This record gives sequence, structure tokens and C-alpha cells, in this order.
Amino acid sequence: MAISERDFQFISDLVRKESAISLEKGKEYLVESRLGPIAVKDGFESIVELVDKLRANTNMLLKRKVVEAMTTNETSFFRDIEPFEMMREEILPELIEQKKNERKLSIWSAAASTGQEIYSLCFLIKEHFPQLLSWDLKLVATDISTETLDKAKNGLYSQIEVNRGLPATMLVKYFTREGTDWQISKEIRDMVEFRELNLIQPWIGMPVFDIIFIRNVLIYFDVDVKKTILANMRKHMYPHSKLFLGAAETTLNIDTSFKRRSYNRGGCYEISSES
Ligand SMILES: C[S@@+](CC[C@H](N)C(=O)[O-])C[C@H]1O[C@@H](n2cnc3c(N)ncnc32)[C@H](O)[C@@H]1O
Repeated sequence: MAISERDFQFISDLVRKESAISLEKGKEYLVESRLGPIAVKDGFESIVELVDKLRANTNMLLKRKVVEAMTTNETSFFRDIEPFEMMREEILPELIEQKKNERKLSIWSAAASTGQEIYSLCFLIKEHFPQLLSWDLKLVATDISTETLDKAKNGLYSQIEVNRGLPATMLVKYFTREGTDWQISKEIRDMVEFRELNLIQPWIGMPVFDIIFIRNVLIYFDVDVKKTILANMRKHMYPHSKLFLGAAETTLNIDTSFKRRSYNRGGCYEISSES
């Protein structure tokens, strides 16, 4: 049965309030396809009954499940290869030179989904900058979704997932076969600190980072939310820090305190010295 306008509006308001994800009219099919399986699994007769339960506001776990189900977790290893090439060819060599006395480097994958982004950075470091392993190296991956974070922590991926973007040499070197899946070695998993973090709530305990990847999440938010998140990001960046957005995202017309820095393979953002 198709979701009613009233129920769609309720879900849309709930998801916006809890995650800032904007579900415009026309996304009814998405709500139906994502909530249907939760309704079945949790023993509801229909999505209508599930929404009624949510309206009663008594089941926090159900609320969380529904919000998490409405997130899009699409990701892959070395997604849009350019940021990783920029990191390898220019950004990390530059930062390593700049911080060679301090020997401290921190990287944050915000909206990390199931972990492929942060693990790609781990592989990059292991392959090309092993000297960083003896530095005070902090790799943090956060997401609103506990389900995706659990998967990221386990580092267990299907054949299809490892076929997407991961060089075969890295599969052989850093994964072991687990039935039909592949698991990342404990050594790599232990390099990363995974934390639940909702970008629209206070970022308690988050330090300042040298490099931040916040890719393919701002697209789901309204302009005011993007502005607030980018302004908060600045508080977690040094003047030399680099910020990576998704290929379809920009700070242009949203936050003038950032300037784009170009590299051979593309660009990322820095805090503008004029801000
Ligand atoms: C499309 S994935 C992007 C994954 C990865 N950054 C990439 O580019 O491949 C978007 C992620 O943003 C997360 N997300 C959505 N709203 C969020 C919020 N308010 N706070 C933190 N993470 C959020 C989702 O759970 C999802 O894992």
C-alpha cells in the first residue's frame, strides 16, 4: 500500500529533525522501500502501524532504526580516485615535511558509512607512507548510523564490495577470506577509531584535524544545515588543514571562509587566510 501524504510528512519531519536529511515530495517510494522491511521485521502489520507507533513516541530504538534506514550508505574503496591520488602525490608529502618535527597527524572521515573511505586511507599510508606508522597518527571515522559503523568496525565485506575500487594486490595483502566474504586484517582495523557522531549535534570530544573527508553527505542537507556544518568544520581545522568534499559538493555560495586549493589531480578546500 502506498504511504499516505500525512504519514510521509511525519517521516520526513522526523528524519529532518533527527539527521537533517531532507526528504522532498517525490521520495515516497524511498520511504516505502526502506520502511517496509523494518515493519515486517518488527512485526507490524503495515507501514501505517509502524508510523502510528512512531507517533506515540515511546520506542526510541524504532525511531533510530527508521532514521538510520533513511540514510544512504553508498560508498566504495578509493571512491572517486582523485582525492587519494592528491593525498599520495602532494598533500601527504607536503604535510609530512611540514610536521616532521612534531610527528603528529590526524585524519577524520566524517560520514564514514561502512568504512571503505577510511580504510582506503589506511592502505594508502601503509603502502606509501609507512613512516607515519611510528608517528602519533590519529585516524577517526564517524557516522550517525550505528549499523554502518558496526560493519565498518568488523571490516567484513562481500565479494561485490571488494571488487569496487580495491586493487587486487591490496585485497591479497590486507584481507583474509571469511566464507564468501573478506575481512580486513586486525592490524588495519586497529588503526582506526570509530565513533558515532551526528553532524547536526554537538561534536563532543572531537579534536582539530589535519585532513577531513566529509564527502557525499552535505548533498542530503538544506543550505542552512550545510552552512552550520561547514562553520563547525572550520573550528576543527588548522590553517594548513585540508577539507575534501564529494565530487558534486562545494563550499561555493555556502561558506566564503573556504578557498579551493588546486592540485594536479583536482582540488580540496582550506580555510581562507582572509577569513
Ligand atoms: C553516501 S554515504 C558517504 C560515505 C563516504 N563518505 C563516501 O563518500 O563514500 C553518506 C553517509 O552519511 C551518513 N549521514 C547522514 N546523515 C548524517 C548526519 N546527520 N550525521 C552524520 N552522518 C550522517 C549516512 O549514515 C551515510 O553513511
